[in-house]
Formats: sequence, structure tokens, C-alpha cells
Amino acid sequence: MWTITGAATEYTVAAGGDRIDLVAWGPHGVSDGPSPYAFHGKVQYMLPGDVAATEYAPDGVRPFLGADLAVAGQVLTWRLDSVAEEDGLRALFVDDVTGLRVTLRWRFAAGTDVIERWVVVHNGGSAPVSVTRLDSAGFSIPSPSGVTLSYLWGQWAQEFTPASVRLDRGRFQIGSAQGVTGHQFSPYLAVGNGDATYGVGLAWSGSWHITASADVAGLTRVQAGRSLDGSPVTLGPGESVTTPVAAGVYSADGVDGVARQWHAYERHLAGDRLRRTRKVIYNSWEATTFDVTADGQLALADIAASLGVETFVVDDGWFVGRHDDTGGLGDWTPDPAKFPDGFGSFVDAVRARGMEFGLWVEPEMVNARSALFEKHPDWIYQTDGRPRTTIRNQYLLNLGREDVFEFVRNTLDSLLSTYPISYLKWDFNRPRTEAAPSADLDGAHVRNLYRVLDHLRAVHPDVTVEGCAAGGARVDYAIAARTDVVWPSDNTAPLDRLRIQHGFLSAHSPHLMSSWVTDATGMFDVRPRSLAFRFVLASAGVLGIGADITTWTPAQRSEAAAWVARYKDVRDVITRGEVHRIGDPDSARCAVQYTLNERTVVLAWNAGGLDGRDLVPGRDVRLPLRGLDPAARYRCGDAVYSGSHLMSVGLPVRWTPSYDADLFSLLAQPA
Ligand code: DGJ
Repeated sequence: MWTITGAATEYTVAAGGDRIDLVAWGPHGVSDGPSPYAFHGKVQYMLPGDVAATEYAPDGVRPFLGADLAVAGQVLTWRLDSVAEEDGLRALFVDDVTGLRVTLRWRFAAGTDVIERWVVVHNGGSAPVSVTRLDSAGFSIPSPSGVTLSYLWGQWAQEFTPASVRLDRGRFQIGSAQGVTGHQFSPYLAVGNGDATYGVGLAWSGSWHITASADVAGLTRVQAGRSLDGSPVTLGPGESVTTPVAAGVYSADGVDGVARQWHAYERHLAGDRLRRTRKVIYNSWEATTFDVTADGQLALADIAASLGVETFVVDDGWFVGRHDDTGGLGDWTPDPAKFPDGFGSFVDAVRARGMEFGLWVEPEMVNARSALFEKHPDWIYQTDGRPRTTIRNQYLLNLGREDVFEFVRNTLDSLLSTYPISYLKWDFNRPRTEAAPSADLDGAHVRNLYRVLDHLRAVHPDVTVEGCAAGGARVDYAIAARTDVVWPSDNTAPLDRLRIQHGFLSAHSPHLMSSWVTDATGMFDVRPRSLAFRFVLASAGVLGIGADITTWTPAQRSEAAAWVARYKDVRDVITRGEVHRIGDPDSARCAVQYTLNERTVVLAWNAGGLDGRDLVPGRDVRLPLRGLDPAARYRCGDAVYSGSHLMSVGLPVRWTPSYDADLFSLLAQPA
């Protein structure tokens, strides 16, 4: 039996026969007692591996209720060779028939309660082996009376929508078959069994699945891993494949507690880069779309600088051949017609206004109308003799090829070393359709994507990278480890965005959540909201402005400048503080609390109705805060409240037709 320990959580497994099974998962000390996973009674018409809380099993060990590993042409069995307590725990299983040597890994991410699990499959035999199923881990959860599964679904402009489903028995699956994380589901699942909530996430930006299976004997097992899309990973003799990390968390505080564990994880993944101040950006996409000109951008830059913006980002449309979405992708040279004095002098002009400069790229893509495609038509995913599918008029380059990888890396190196660029927005606007003639479908693409992102961090460490994929179609824990911010959605309208952000924070930390103030009209909820509402909303993560600010009145501009200044004062608390979500984004009681040491910031929005506008009796909306010291006193403007009052009754707020959002800053008073 082995126990590995996280900040406040422990995870205990035991070996027996050809399996390693889970014994306990929960707070420190949970292993000191009979295992909730142990079973008694006869196993009928199945194998014990089907019934047990098996950590990871091939189809010969767990044939009926869901195996984690399978190979073509035979039922795989193995024997446990050895277990070592080394960087967490590792266990080696060996199959003497194929020669496969499979190492299971467990480790708590340092300083967190997130257990990382992954597997290395090595072909130590003399013949190739085709791996047809290759999960990262199975997580077992006691579920004597079923489970509630919480997940995030979406589509373009509606990402990160929270939903839940009750599963008493049977199977529930989310995933992507698009060769990218996808808009439809996030690789995140929370499993509540009435006593505790467990979370499972996956660090992979290709096709994936998370599958929860509730058996008939009180166990729910969640499998997470790559989805091989019917294209096996073939391992030649001596070759290995490593699965992505599947991460698991335990929380006694429900879905919101699970969210805090994921925030802690993403902060751990950010490492030292978390300490960097998140700069306020302006992005010109919604203002100019493809109609980029030096004069037009500088007119925006003048105003952006006066509002306190720190980085000015030119989005799509700056390069040759890019007048709309039908051409240009692949040719990453600034368009001289749009920048007649040269791109370098344009960038200097932006910087002369006191801002850093940022640029949009989509380096994995090519349009048919481009010099790159003319030169390298063979670089795209395609199957001989079959049509090539376009989405948004573009093809996907096969980044798994070494020459394409080098092209992408060199293109970015060249842009970043030619111009003083401090911020790169990396977009990805179409999923994969055609297969590559490769043995490891999206594996090679995704690994080379990570290689380029890792290269950027190593060689251009001062450049901030924003991950984007037609909005939020590539947000996962692998991307969180390699980018500084991500773009959750192209929907920037206030009430739509409030819902998206509330869902985003279920699985992802505010330091990653890029958000702009715009004048966009809602697609799902068209009710307009004040400029204050939109600033408070975009302040919930990393603040940006994306409106056509040349149309803003002087009064709007001075209000905007005041909000930018307020954001700068609280942004460290927002990006690094402990997050508690209060209420819901369909009501008058909707807020996010951020607490860092003695400072607490509460962002609150009225997404619901009013209380009768004083024509009938009404009561203030109360925002109950969490995690404060009940005995301490907290100053908020002129008011002082006890922690006890703030947590049990809540911070009062009285909405009016024009007062629909606010930012509250609270300071714990010295005792
Ligand atoms: C999709 C992104 O999500 C948008 O923010 C914008 O960058 C466009 N692509 C540009 O084509």
C-alpha cells in the first residue's frame, strides 16, 4: 500500500495480482480506516478488475466495464513488475507476449491538491504494436446513491456553459473528435456523490474524451484521455508514447471548491509568470475587423493610451493578401499598402504613445489564396483522391511535419526579432477534418504545437502569449501551462459574457481570462448594460478594451479611464486571489469574490430584475462572502462590517436602472 500526499489531500493505492487499486482519496488522514472502494461478495460473470476501483487496466484485466489500454489484434494482459516511490509513485507493468512495458505515474502538483496521472507505454518487444486505446487514467469515486456530473458545454460564442446531469447507472461521455480541444465541451468534469465533489481534467489540445461510468455496485469510474479517432498509435520496437496528464481533485466544498483547486493548479502551471502584472490591453478586432490601416490603428492607439491601456494589439488583417477571410493566411509579412511608412515605424509610433505592441497570428493555417499554399500545397492535411475541406475558407497545416514545425517556429522568431512585439495572440480558427498520413493522428500536431509554445517561452520570455481558437476552442490545462492568457469567447456582449465567464471560472483561473469592454449586442440576451457593468465584467480576469473607442464620447472616455485605474489598483487581488462565485448570472445576485491576504475585491452585477424601484417595499440584494475571518472587521468605503456579518448576511447592494454593477474593495482592519 502506498500513500502520496498533496497540500491537504492524500491518495492511497494498493497492489494486488495484476492490478493497482484505489484505497482512499480525500483529506489528510482519510486512508486511516476501511476503504470505501473495497467490495465483498462474489464476482459473477465478470472479472474482479471490472468491479474493483482499478487505477488503470488493459482490456484483458477489465474486459467489460471499460478498459484504459488496448492493442489491436489481441486482448492485452500484464503482470505488475515493480513499484517505486519516486517523484510521487510509479508502477511498471509488463506484458511478456508483446513486450510492452507500461509505467503508471502518480504525482501531486507541488503545493496543490491536484493529483497528476499519466502513463508511458514502451514497446520492448520485437514487433510493432498498434495501440487502439490509450487513456491517461481512471479515477474512482464511491457512489452508493449515484452521482451528479457537472460539465461545461458550448459552441462558438457560447462557450463554458455550465450544466449538470444525474447519473445513477450507465455511462456519460464528453469529448472532442476535432483534433483540437473544441468549443463543444471542456475537458473538465466534476462528480458529486453527496458527500464530496471530485474533479477530473485533461491536459491535451487534440481529440479527447472524459467518460464517467456508474456501475451497479456503487462505484463511478471516470476515464480521461486522448481519443484516437480510430487511428491507432503504432509503436515500433523500442518506441514509446507518453499520454497527456489527467488531473484529479477532491473537494469538500462542492463545484466551487473544485474550481478553486483548478485555479491553484493553473497558478502552479504558470510558475513564475504568475507574478507578472497582467497589462491592460486594447485589441482592434471589433473596431476595424480586416480593415486595418496605420492611420486607423493609430487613431485608436491615441485614445487607448489616454484611457490607461498598456498594450495595443493589432488583430487579424495586418499582413499581405488579408482583406477578408478568403486570403492571406500563411504569408506573415506586413502589408505595405496598409503600412506605407513601414510596419516598423508603425510599431514605433504605437510604442511612442507609451504602450507595448501586440500582434495577432494564426500560424497553423493557410488560405488557398496565399504564396505559402502555392509553394507548399502538400503541407495541409489531405487524403489523396479526396476533397479538401475548408472551414472559414482555410486549410489546416500538418504541424506534425518537421518542415511545417520549422516554418511556424521560424516565422514567429522572425516576427518577434524584427519588431519589438511584446504580446502575441495565437489564433486557431478551424478544426481538423482530413487525416494526415501519420501513425499518430493529432499526437504529432499537438506535440509540435507545444514545442513551438515552449520555444517561445524559452527564446522570447518577455512576450506575453494569448491563446485563442475562434474564441475558446482551445482552452485546457496543457494550454494553461504554455500561455499567459486565453480568449474565452468571441461573444463580448455583457449578459452573454457574464454567463461565459461564470462558467469559465469553474475550471480556469482569472489570471488566464482575457476579457474586453465592447459595445457588442447580445446574441442570447440582448438587454443592454451600462459601461460600468461592462468594465466590472471585463475586470473579472485580465482587462482589455475592444470597442471602437473613436466613437466614445468624452464622458465615456473619462469614465473608462477611471475604471482602468481602479482595475490596476486591484488586479493583483483579481488575478492571484482565492475565488468564490456568489449567486448566478441570471439573477440580481451575481458576484465574484477575490481574496488575497487582507484584501478582498467583490465584482457584482445585476443580471436580473429590480426590486420595484421604491414604489413597493424592497430589500437590498445581499452578497454573502466566503473564507473571511468572522471575528475580523472589514472596511469597504465608509462602511465597516464584521467578517461574520459579511459571510452570514452579506455585503448589501441596491440596484437601480442605471446602477447595475459595482466593484467593491474591502480591507481587513488591523485587530
Ligand atoms: C477569431 C478570434 O476569436 C477573434 O478574436 C479574432 O481574432 C478573429 N478570429 C480574427 O480573424
